[in-house]
Amino acid sequence: MSAQQMLKVFVTRRIPQEGMKILQNAGMCNLSVWDSDEPVPRAELLKGVAGAHGLLCLLSDKIDAEVLDAAGPNLKVISTFSVGCDHLAIEEIKKQGIRVGYTPDVLTDATAELTVALLLATARRLPEGVEEVKNGGWSTWKPLWLCGYGLSGSTVGVIGLGRIGLAIARRLKPFGVKRLLYTGRQPKPQAQEVDGEYVPLDTLVRESDFVVVSCSLTPDTQGLCDKTFFSKMKKTSIFINTSRGVVVNQEDLFEALSSGQIAAAGLDVTTPEPLPTNHPLLTLKNCVVLPHIGSATYSTRGVMSELTANNLLAGLTGSEMPSELKL
Ligand code: NDP
Ligand code: DGY
Repeated sequence: MSAQQMLKVFVTRRIPQEGMKILQNAGMCNLSVWDSDEPVPRAELLKGVAGAHGLLCLLSDKIDAEVLDAAGPNLKVISTFSVGCDHLAIEEIKKQGIRVGYTPDVLTDATAELTVALLLATARRLPEGVEEVKNGGWSTWKPLWLCGYGLSGSTVGVIGLGRIGLAIARRLKPFGVKRLLYTGRQPKPQAQEVDGEYVPLDTLVRESDFVVVSCSLTPDTQGLCDKTFFSKMKKTSIFINTSRGVVVNQEDLFEALSSGQIAAAGLDVTTPEPLPTNHPLLTLKNCVVLPHIGSATYSTRGVMSELTANNLLAGLTGSEMPSELKL
């Protein structure tokens, strides 16, 4: 391709080299990269995307009408380095005939593993235990000290039995889970594999010892876990969220945790991200907060990077994408 025919691509962050190599070796991209581990400032995003044919973005970049306007009519494809697409103004994007690539499946195992780790860490109070060892609080073996809740014989409720929800259920069942409840927009045939019982949300919340949120963020799920939701949970129940922060009303969660309405919570996602270090949730021993690391294994991030690059190239050439979001 001559220099003039090269297609302009804006990449909003430093990404694993696997994807960058694919873009560089394709020989069709005039690459412009926000070469930092920190998010691109909005003004730089608007500047960088001007005239671009392709945009490779992250979940922290809000891609709305303003960005599309700044990009102009060349823009053919947006490829996001994530499975979640709630940061994209889908209706606007669709209206403008722009294709969207995303990264389903390749991060399912890593995210499910992290969810199980977070659930066990929260239920068995691992961060508290580690802290006690370090600060001298460990005086002797005590029958009533640092007791938590176990999965054996329990009821687990999964909100959103999609790719990740099912992968979480598969991993939890062998711990001796007695009942696996799930809720969503419709029953799933694949739930049979984990003996999943499709129940209304209300039943799931009331009957589960562990409530695990793994749904996508939509107008229906935004704020789903609120005061009413927590008030239905058992006092001994554990709440886990690895979907998106705004699915939870954090003031209501704080109230539920601090008043003993529920036993504990583990969050990999919060509002905002990062959660300010003086946030009330961080003062609670029964709340374990992780910095959105569900998919953070070296290999998963490498494969996400490859897939994001290949989606972008397919969008630029008008060919079939490995993973295209159906708009
Ligand atoms: P899927 O699309 O496979 O699953 C999403 C599920 O959400 C579907 O089963 C869907 O149910 C369900 N859902 C949608 N609306 C509702 C609702 N109103 N009530 C209950 N369930 C609902 O996506 P993935 O499993 O691949 O990913 C799920 C989400 O996990 C992503 O969108 C992202 O936000 C988050 N994620 C977080 C990560 C992290 O690092 N913490 C890593 C990766 C993903 P139905 O099929 O019935 O519509
Ligand atoms: C996603 O892909 O949506 C996650 O939140 C990060 O991997």
